[in-house]
Amino acid sequence: MILTSPRLKTPFLGFELENPFILSASPSTDELSIARRGLDAGWAGLVLKTTSLETTSVDLAYPMMSSFAGEGGIAGMGNIDLISAYHINEVAERVRILKREFPRKLVAASIMSDSREGWQSLVTILKSADVDLIECSFSCPQGSVGEEPGKMLAQSVTATERVAGWVKDAACDLPVLIKITPQVSDIVAIAQAVQKAGCDGVTASNSVPALMGIALDTLRPIPNVGGYSTYSGLTGPAIKPITLRTVAEIARHVPGLVISGNGGIMNWRDSVELLAVGAGNAQICTAVMLHGFDIIRDLTSGLDNYLQDMRINSVVDLIGISLPYIADHDSLPRQKVRSFVVEEKCIGCGRCYIACRDGGHEAISWESEKRRPSISIDKCVGCGLCLLTQPVAGCLELRQV
Ligand SMILES: Cc1cc2nc3c(=O)[nH]c(=O)nc-3n(C[C@H](O)[C@H](O)[C@H](O)COP(=O)(O)O)c2cc1C
Repeated sequence: MILTSPRLKTPFLGFELENPFILSASPSTDELSIARRGLDAGWAGLVLKTTSLETTSVDLAYPMMSSFAGEGGIAGMGNIDLISAYHINEVAERVRILKREFPRKLVAASIMSDSREGWQSLVTILKSADVDLIECSFSCPQGSVGEEPGKMLAQSVTATERVAGWVKDAACDLPVLIKITPQVSDIVAIAQAVQKAGCDGVTASNSVPALMGIALDTLRPIPNVGGYSTYSGLTGPAIKPITLRTVAEIARHVPGLVISGNGGIMNWRDSVELLAVGAGNAQICTAVMLHGFDIIRDLTSGLDNYLQDMRINSVVDLIGISLPYIADHDSLPRQKVRSFVVEEKCIGCGRCYIACRDGGHEAISWESEKRRPSISIDKCVGCGLCLLTQPVAGCLELRQV
């Protein structure tokens, strides 16, 4: 049973989503049969994988997926996928079918082109299919539309404003989101360009360009495509902090711009964080690709229980709730904190001692006979490094002094 709770209802650009969870443009939304199962499973909507005009050639290279491990499993996933091999007329037909089958779900389409005429034709075709929303991929390398060929559109303020304006001119009342990249020096300027162009919001903020690794046995980069590789789009847990920062910056400095949050959301806890920094909903890809559509059950029940426990009436009240507490470094309160060993929890591993000795302030000494750390209150500055080494939760504590 999928949870439908009044607490989870999420308004979004004139729609009422049953929950804040949307499938983002990806292989999970590329095939009609797969997309349909996603909506059936309880997702509030989807963005169909990015499509293009029939004249665009899409030449994929395989294998396209890779990952790197963290302590608890996959820390980041990489892909060298491109846009959908399905072109606009096929995708428009899928929009019609999905809208007919799921009239209450959000059916959005993602587009990409390299000319004004191209962008506007894609919009016109999708409008005639009654799509609910258009998302524009400005965060893939896209030829000659920007002033620097090969760069992402959303890496240029002027190209972003110009192309977003073309799309909105054609879309008129149809909501338009621009999917931006975090790989810029001034994310606020990009978001402001989207707003100036009259678009409704941003999807913030796609994968992060990365080199996924080198295989030690062959010294070839991964994924190995016939002996060669290229840069991947990094997704999943590794990029969540980048997404949170991007969303927070836009929410703090570009009021009125709707944000669909995306990047690194693996579970309901991550979604709480994303909403708390100002995203209006959560688009998810990697978690679904690794664990399947049914994670929607945990997402919805986990978020609903959390809201209830925290006495927060609805998703809407959570959006942006943490923003007032993000400050510039200069204005952070200066407080005296120090680290303390919680004796009954210490297992005598010595990790805090080594970290403080070689990466901190030599504030922890080691009593080897008793196998116990001892913290000098005078030398400890309260940096918090030792807490990161804890083998047992709560064996060290920071306290105000
Ligand atoms: C294999 C793969 C293909 C993707 N294809 C697209 C695409 O066609 N268009 C797009 O805008 N984003 C695409 N994405 C990016 C996702 O929509 C999403 O922005 C990104 O994976 C970050 O979210 P996540 O950490 O939840 O995965 C793709 C991601 C993956 C892993």
